[in-house]
Amino acid sequence: MLLCRDIHFNRITQPEYDAKCFLSACGFSNIFLELKFSWIIKLMFAFSCRSAFELWGHGRTHSELRTSLLKYPSENMTPFMQRDSTYRINVYTFNKTLEFADRIKRIDAMEYLPFEGTVSLKSPQHIFCLLEDYGTDPNNIPEHPSYVYFGRWIADGQRELIRSHSVKNRHFIGNTSMDAGLSFIMANHAKVKENDLVFDPFVGTGSLLVACSHFGAYVCGTDIDYNTIHGKGKACRSSRKNQKWRGPDENIRANLRQYGTQRSYLDVMVSDASKPVWRDTVLFDAIITDPPYGIRESTRRTGSHKDITKPPDDFCGESHVPVSMAYHLSDIFTDLLNFSAHHLVKGGRLVYWLPVYRPEYCEEMIPLHPSLRMISNCEQTLSSHTSRRLITMEKIKEPEESDALAHLSDPRFSPYQGHNAFREKYFSGLNKNHQSNCCSNYNKQPKMNE
Ligand SMILES: C[S@@+](CC[C@H](N)C(=O)[O-])C[C@H]1O[C@@H](n2cnc3c(N)ncnc32)[C@H](O)[C@@H]1O
Repeated sequence: MLLCRDIHFNRITQPEYDAKCFLSACGFSNIFLELKFSWIIKLMFAFSCRSAFELWGHGRTHSELRTSLLKYPSENMTPFMQRDSTYRINVYTFNKTLEFADRIKRIDAMEYLPFEGTVSLKSPQHIFCLLEDYGTDPNNIPEHPSYVYFGRWIADGQRELIRSHSVKNRHFIGNTSMDAGLSFIMANHAKVKENDLVFDPFVGTGSLLVACSHFGAYVCGTDIDYNTIHGKGKACRSSRKNQKWRGPDENIRANLRQYGTQRSYLDVMVSDASKPVWRDTVLFDAIITDPPYGIRESTRRTGSHKDITKPPDDFCGESHVPVSMAYHLSDIFTDLLNFSAHHLVKGGRLVYWLPVYRPEYCEEMIPLHPSLRMISNCEQTLSSHTSRRLITMEKIKEPEESDALAHLSDPRFSPYQGHNAFREKYFSGLNKNHQSNCCSNYNKQPKMNE
């Protein structure tokens, strides 16, 4: 069997596959995997899968493909090539577009196969596919394919679901609504299943709740932004044409209603993630979130009496509790890991995005917690110098008092201050000073807890 995966999600597919069936890498290329039927069945629920085919032949050239196809057992072919059957041959090319005439030529060249049925373009009983792989580099497309395959189409993956849940047609969206495909992949990384309880502490417009509710999980979330939680305020530019203010049906509950999963909706509330409101017990099967990076939304937290610095002795004004203050990225991630360590069930997963300045990236930057085991860390490139990493962690034990000293043995247990300058680095582009400031300097960063 041949599985064709979506190159768009290339770097984040393997953990999704692992979460589905503990599959270790095996395959022809970045795009095509040869798998057992039972694995294909499981993987068809992975969102990075395009289609599955019964593989009849393959080779580096069309002539090798022909040799391979002629060796394929005829008893496996003939049931699909009977005189009274209808069929169609599709040509799929990856990283190259073929002219219509060239596609026809490719199909005509397959005449050595014993097709006896009638061609039906509209509703064929059997669909066969010729797949040509031109690699993955759009700036270096070879003249000839690097590999070719021929097979019988079995099924498409979950792409239709990605289309039907596209944020373009969603009731309620915002500037940072998470793309449907990535939301589903995050839910798969977290192994979300029916009746799970899932929480998003930076819920925004609830795209991640939409994906988790599709798998039958009960969902809830918090966000510091009153307007977002209550569906009030200015409409996002792309949400509805010519509409300045959000309408009455623009809220997270309405989003779930749109997809028929309203029964999974628990609630969302206005709350600051730096001051969690939950009682101190394990609650959630998964915590899935996209924290603010300070690019399109601010990273703020509420002020408190504790945050007031002692005024000088000669100060005669009133003491002031700030309404809000900066919430540094390093603190956001430390709080998120701590919260997850305390509130996830054992075996529960935390899945979140971590923005990084690529020239400085090294694995040591990824925040750790003694109660959480790293499952995967995959990159999605945002620009030449920035990317975000999809981090998946699993809770392995309840937090202990001694964990507070864990940073003494590994600095990654204390906040990595380098994340805090992400906004400046994002807007400054590639900077030679930053390039030399990478991993080797990690241990020299001042530590918050020191
Ligand atoms: C990247 S957006 C999340 C987008 C969301 N995944 C969606 O699909 O719409 C980050 C969210 O974090 C919220 N936020 C910022 N600071 C916060 C805080 N201290 N506590 C809770 N939420 C906060 C912002 O209001 C914003 O909605």
